[in-house]
Amino acid sequence: MKNPLIDSILTRRTIRKFKAGGPISDEAMDALVQAGMASPTGFDARPWHFVTIQDAEIMQKLAAAMPGCDSCALTASAVLICADPTGEKLPGIWVQDCSACAQNIQLAAHAQGLGAVWLAMYMVEERIQACRQLLGVPEPIIPFTLIAVGVPDETGNLMERYIPERVHRNRW
Ligand SMILES: Cc1cc2nc3c(=O)[nH]c(=O)nc-3n(C[C@H](O)[C@H](O)[C@H](O)COP(=O)(O)O)c2cc1C
Repeated sequence: MKNPLIDSILTRRTIRKFKAGGPISDEAMDALVQAGMASPTGFDARPWHFVTIQDAEIMQKLAAAMPGCDSCALTASAVLICADPTGEKLPGIWVQDCSACAQNIQLAAHAQGLGAVWLAMYMVEERIQACRQLLGVPEPIIPFTLIAVGVPDETGNLMERYIPERVHRNRW
């Protein structure tokens, strides 16, 4: 049975090349953040903060400061998902919360015809420091992932990924 949401999930792919141009619109950016904030969180804690970027110069600086983040230089837009771990009920659960949030944002980009790449900040100290310095993220807030977004200049590889052998029915 065809289902638009499932089709969207199955056709999303990471995009690292973007067409030159200005930042995405405020409307498109708001839709990304709204989708992020709609994701599920443990204890409904919603421990996130977002830094939205719609500025080519800032993206250039991020690309220069963070190893392996060249995609940032090719677009003017990104969303940095950050976590506020203070007061959490289960230590470290914010990683799962922010991961679900990141996936929602990637899907919301895809739904708007935009491309996106999840650039890991969490556990990559050099990238975390660059975010703190360039974007002013204070302690104890933790930069989790930077999702660079723009107009796609490549198509992802839509190979079949379903592996029936990995599915254990009723028990392993
Ligand atoms: C936790 C996580 C960290 C990632 N970090 C990076 C990264 O630092 N740089 C990058 O180019 N892609 C990164 N990616 C994107 C993956 O490389 C990509 O999702 C994977 O190759 C599968 O491709 P797909 O997204 O097109 O399905 C990351 C993805 C996840 C989920």
